[in-house]
Amino acid sequence: MANPIKKRYVLIFFVTAFITAALTLLLVNIFEKKQEANLYPSVFKPVGDYETDPKVWGENFPFEYDSYKKTETNEGPTYYGGSDNYQKLEKYPNLIRLFAGYPFSKDYREERGHYWAITDVKQSLRVNEKTANTCISCKSSQVLEDVEKMGPENFYKAMFKDVAAHYDKSIGCLDCHDPKTMELRVKRPAFIEAMQRRGIDVTKASRQEMRSYVCGQCHVEYYFKGEGKYLTFPWDKGFNVDSIEAYYDEYNFTDWNHETSGAPMIKMQHPEFETWNTGIHARSGVSCVDCHMPYERAGSVKVTNHWIKSPLRNINNACQTCHKWNEQELIARVKAIQDRTYETMYKTELAILDAIDAIKKAKDAGANDEQLANARKLHRRAQLRWDFIAAENSMGFHSPQETLKTLSNAIDYARQSQLEAERWLRNITMK
Ligand code: HEC
Ligand code: HEC
Ligand code: HEC
Ligand code: HEC
Repeated sequence: MANPIKKRYVLIFFVTAFITAALTLLLVNIFEKKQEANLYPSVFKPVGDYETDPKVWGENFPFEYDSYKKTETNEGPTYYGGSDNYQKLEKYPNLIRLFAGYPFSKDYREERGHYWAITDVKQSLRVNEKTANTCISCKSSQVLEDVEKMGPENFYKAMFKDVAAHYDKSIGCLDCHDPKTMELRVKRPAFIEAMQRRGIDVTKASRQEMRSYVCGQCHVEYYFKGEGKYLTFPWDKGFNVDSIEAYYDEYNFTDWNHETSGAPMIKMQHPEFETWNTGIHARSGVSCVDCHMPYERAGSVKVTNHWIKSPLRNINNACQTCHKWNEQELIARVKAIQDRTYETMYKTELAILDAIDAIKKAKDAGANDEQLANARKLHRRAQLRWDFIAAENSMGFHSPQETLKTLSNAIDYARQSQLEAERWLRNITMK
């Protein structure tokens, strides 16, 4: 038989424990609310629909503003990335011959933080009197108002010197946030239109999807379509390089003719969104923001770190929330992927240069355009694959296996191109 006195003590014990727990939770809650109140001012100043000055937004959100401002900082290079905007042509002289006849052979810098986007586009030696306004599209939050007012067609058709040259604001809050609700939003037409053609309505995206879509407005491969230079993303057939090549081939699209080989070339531009899309992290639902803007504690509140940069500078917050490996181990895993990519990428460059030299020799010996058409086509196919990896900024990390597959195909096409050109050279010299 149970003792009634014992029973009562047990009851009192549980009631006391319950009240203590409830009180603790209440206190913690009040404390957190207080901390939030300290983090954000109690009176919100409304921000205009096209407010491009981050400082004005920052009056409401000092933590986000302060961390955003740090994108100005140069913490120096990492193994293959980082925020030091060194001249790539000096570090990787192969690029000069690979881009012969194209402005990237004159000036090609490593990218750095968002704070610098407007400065760097204006200083780029690739921008001149004839540059299309389309070039400003991913460099300034002033783009949004002009696209709205002028309409996208007229905005892209204009000249850089007439519109973009007068801008002074870099990438800012307005590029990712709705000024009324602070929700993430995508306003740039090219992303919305490209996703629409893939059957995806961006306005219906989940919050986790938006945490990559906001970046996908700019960190992508693109081209200027037709006379009006209409900014277009080549995603109709898919995100990997084979689908993108197939898309371009259908349009017969060419950026320039290679000065040495005469091949019709395509320049690939920073396809981070596409590459991430083919990798294990995207497959597992991990967004750009999870690694590049991880949560941080400010007091007892979780906030998003707006100092967007290399995650190698912030392994603790960027990776260790999901991976229990220690920091050295995580860095070693990234470096192993990057070193393998770099080694294969370098071999690809040598193969492409051999193809270029072989085509030139055959041409100099008298091979005509018709005879060299196939070797040139193969040069194009090899180089656009190599460039898809070289211009992507993670050195393979965003999608290691797709990256190595792409490079091995590039080597194969380059050697086929070389063999084809050498065959013509032998045919001609043996006559
Ligand atoms: C799983 C984590 C992870 C995800 C998800 C991720 N990245 Fe990265 N990203 C990295 C790592 C690691 C590097 C290599 C940094 C280095 O070499 O210093 C990198 C490099 C970069 C760089 C170059 C940084 C530099 O310092 O030069 C850019 C730009 C970038 N990522 C953009 C994106 C975008 C855009 C997305 C989403 C479409 C994305 N990343 C998704 C981890 C991630
Ligand atoms: C409006 C266009 C735009 C948007 C939106 C954008 N970026 Fe960028 N990003 C750029 C440009 C342009 C640069 C290069 C700036 C330079 O080098 O002057 C850059 C640079 C970077 C870098 C290199 C930083 C460094 O220190 O080397 C990283 C990492 C990056 N972006 C990640 C992201 C992520 C993650 C998102 C989404 C949360 C994002 N970006 C959204 C245009 C954009
Ligand atoms: C490149 C895109 C980008 C830019 C630029 C940007 N943000 Fe954010 N911001 C984000 C993302 C992504 C989140 C996380 C939202 C989520 O997960 O729902 C965020 C979250 C926030 C939040 C919610 C609280 C938090 O910290 O998670 C505030 C407030 C905020 N940002 C303010 C700002 C301000 C102020 C600026 C300009 C100084 C700014 N943001 C610039 C992408 C951006
Ligand atoms: C939001 C969670 C999350 C974050 C943040 C994250 N990862 Fe992962 N990572 C995963 C998942 C999920 C996988 C898939 C494998 C698995 O299920 O364990 C994975 C796989 C990997 C792999 C194996 C890749 C392969 O090809 O097999 C490496 C290496 C890795 N992550 C490194 C990193 C690094 C470095 C960072 C920080 C820059 C990071 N991860 C950030 C969740 C995450």
